[in-house]
Amino acid sequence: MLAGLALAVVAKPSVGQQTAPDPAVWTVPEIGALPNDAHGRLVRRGRDLITATYALIGPLVANPAKRYAGNNLPCVSCHLQAATKMFGLPLFGLAGDYPRYNARSGTEITLVERLNACMTRSMNGRPLPANSPEMTAIVAYLQFLWSGVPPGRACPGSAPATRRNWTVPPIQGAASTSMPRAAPLTTTLTARAFPGSG
Ligand code: HEC
Repeated sequence: MLAGLALAVVAKPSVGQQTAPDPAVWTVPEIGALPNDAHGRLVRRGRDLITATYALIGPLVANPAKRYAGNNLPCVSCHLQAATKMFGLPLFGLAGDYPRYNARSGTEITLVERLNACMTRSMNGRPLPANSPEMTAIVAYLQFLWSGVPPGRACPGSAPATRRNWTVPPIQGAASTSMPRAAPLTTTLTARAFPGSG
C-alpha cells in the first residue's frame, strides 16, 4: 500500500512537464553568411536601402530620377537595427503575411503596396515602381528576413504579433495615425485615459 502510494507520487507529472514547450526563438538570419553572388548582393542592397535610404533614394541624391523619398529619414529611424529589432517596428517575418487586409484602405494590399504606403506617408515621397531595382532589393531583403519562419507564424516582437493582441485606445485629436504602436505606449495611454485604473 505504502509502496503503491510512493509510486503514484513519483508517476505524477510535475507542473513543468505539463506545460507546452516554449516556441522556438527566432533569430535574425546572418546576412554576412550570404555568398557574394547576385542574390547576396541584392539582399545587401535592400539592407542598405533601409539603413542609408537618404544616400540612395533621398531628395538630395545626384540622379533626379532616384529622388523617391521627400525627406532625409532612413527607414531605420523607425524600423530599428535594419528592421530586425524586436518591438522596434521590425520588418521580419512579415513577407509571408502579404497580401493582407489593410484597414486604412479597406482592401487587401500587397507587400509592395504596404511598403509604398511608407514611401508616400512616412517618407513624404513617391512610390517605388514595383519592378524598380530599389523595390526589388528591399523586397529581397524582407524575404531574406522571413527565411525560416513557418507560414502563418508571427515572430515575437513583430508588428503582426503585437497587432493581434492590441486595440487602439481612443485618443481625441490624435495628430497622426502612423504612430509606432508599441505595447508600453498603450499601457501609459490607458492609465492616463482612466486615472486611478493603473
Ligand atoms: C516615420 C517612421 C517610419 C519610417 C521612416 C518608415 N516607416 Fe515603415 N512603418 C512605420 C509604421 C509606424 C508602420 C506600421 C507598423 C504596424 O503596422 O504596426 C510601418 C510599417 C511598414 C511596413 C509594413 C509592416 C507590417 O507589419 O506589415 C513596411 C513593409 C514598411 N513599413 C517599410 C518601410 C520602408 C521600406 C521604409 C523606408 C523606405 C519605411 N517603412 C520607413 C513607420 C515608418
